[in-house]
Amino acid sequence: MTSDSDDPALASRRLAHESLRQDDPTGWFERLYSAAADGSAVVPWDRGTAHPLLLDWIDTAQPSGDGRRALVVGAGTGWDAELIADRGYDTTAFDISPTAVDTAQQAHPGSKATYQVADLLNPPTDWHHAFDLVIEIYTVQALPISLQPAATAQVSDFVRPGGTLVVIASARDDDHSPDAAIDGPPWPLTRSAIDAFATSDLKLIQVDRSPSPTSRTSHHWRAEYLRD
Ligand SMILES: C[S@@+](CC[C@H](N)C(=O)[O-])C[C@H]1O[C@@H](n2cnc3c(N)ncnc32)[C@H](O)[C@@H]1O
Repeated sequence: MTSDSDDPALASRRLAHESLRQDDPTGWFERLYSAAADGSAVVPWDRGTAHPLLLDWIDTAQPSGDGRRALVVGAGTGWDAELIADRGYDTTAFDISPTAVDTAQQAHPGSKATYQVADLLNPPTDWHHAFDLVIEIYTVQALPISLQPAATAQVSDFVRPGGTLVVIASARDDDHSPDAAIDGPPWPLTRSAIDAFATSDLKLIQVDRSPSPTSRTSHHWRAEYLRD
């Protein structure tokens, strides 16, 4: 039989469900990172490296960060932020969990990225249309479906004119099952949810659906958007 201590994903889901029962859909992130910091839990999504689909995007797009600003949403332990900062972007990486921010700072001493605590659902007002590159990996899907439209709109809002948004998320078929049947977290994104990052002037320019790097039965979206 699998117990929480054997399976970090199970332990984090238990924390999440407690939080959701208390109508606190984001409180469990701090509890999980703080348990991980004292060695009593493991952060299941901490890959110890940048996301392979982001690495692949960087290899293909070869973006130059010189003099440009990037924002990494829900940055966790910072591996994606480090990749972006190393490409020369003036990189801000934020997370709702203060312990995640501390952990990222400790994991990357001498980092060129700036790590800070912020809430995607109530971000600093001066981030409106402020970033040339915005990276969103797995944050929107970590929020209950009822909060996803607001989170999605906020991610899009960070992109400045001429700027790029890259979204990487687990994929769910639109007609697979009703929202209420998804026992998240996570709550993977449908194609309609991917389309919802686009606005009248933030165009979806590419979307790929590929097998997950870790499981042959699940798939991932990688979508790229450009603001006019
Ligand atoms: C599933 S993890 C993904 C972390 C990282 N992006 C990655 O791919 O490794 C979701 C992250 O989003 C953060 N998060 C959740 N809700 C948030 C919010 N409202 N504002 C900012 N960060 C949030 C969590 O603390 C967590 O680090």
